[in-house]
Amino acid sequence: MRTRFIVGNWKMNKTATEAVAFVHRLKQELPSVEGIQVGFTPPFTALHATRDALASNPAFLLGAQNLHWEEKGAFTGEVSGPMLKDLGCEFVLVGHSERRQHFGDQDTWTNRKVLAALRHGLRPILCVGETLQERDSEHTDAVIERQLRAGLVGVDDQGLAAVTIAYEPVWAIGTGRAATPQQAVLVHRMIRRIIGELGGADRVQQLRILYGGSVTPQNIADFLSFEEIDGALVGGACLDPLSFATLVRVAI
Ligand code: G3H
Repeated sequence: MRTRFIVGNWKMNKTATEAVAFVHRLKQELPSVEGIQVGFTPPFTALHATRDALASNPAFLLGAQNLHWEEKGAFTGEVSGPMLKDLGCEFVLVGHSERRQHFGDQDTWTNRKVLAALRHGLRPILCVGETLQERDSEHTDAVIERQLRAGLVGVDDQGLAAVTIAYEPVWAIGTGRAATPQQAVLVHRMIRRIIGELGGADRVQQLRILYGGSVTPQNIADFLSFEEIDGALVGGACLDPLSFATLVRVAI
């Protein structure tokens, strides 16, 4: 059995002060969380404050939304794996569609970022997903396969064991139009098959695949009722502590 993983991706929301207030409220709502992992990816500027506020609950994991593949150097505005690790991050999102769409993150970059994360002891969540145009033209499988294989070039078996995949159809992100669980399951099965080709049976067994795209407290149960779906990457519904707490409670 794989432990469920619910990740709240704050995107470019919340100051450090707001982050602390959020966590305190959330902890009131969720005084004990067991048997599930709950991740938070605040903006870089709120990582430190969020880490301190989260402290003491092993079910709560701190993550970052992005990293640069170099360790240090003349890369103005970038943040490296060792910097995130030092702040207490345990995982990092790589290749989120908003990075691909607005900031030019391409498959070669996501690959470098996955490898950098692994090198520095951060678990990467590699995000993949097709646009509406790609789905409508029946290119979903090809796009996902390309993003997966390209993102995981050079990742050895041990590295693969630390990777989580998030399937996020671009057309479902922030639109209120979630994929149906059946649509998600088909893609999750394909992802698992490809990981099976890259790794072995053990990797397939332990690989966690999250669904993301307009997940809410109302629809999370439908997704989690399928064994293929190990959790969710949540955007809009994670920003309010009551909404996120409700969603997590359903997932426990
Ligand atoms: O990282 C989270 C996803 O992009 C989903 O965002 O829940 O607002 O659709 P959303």
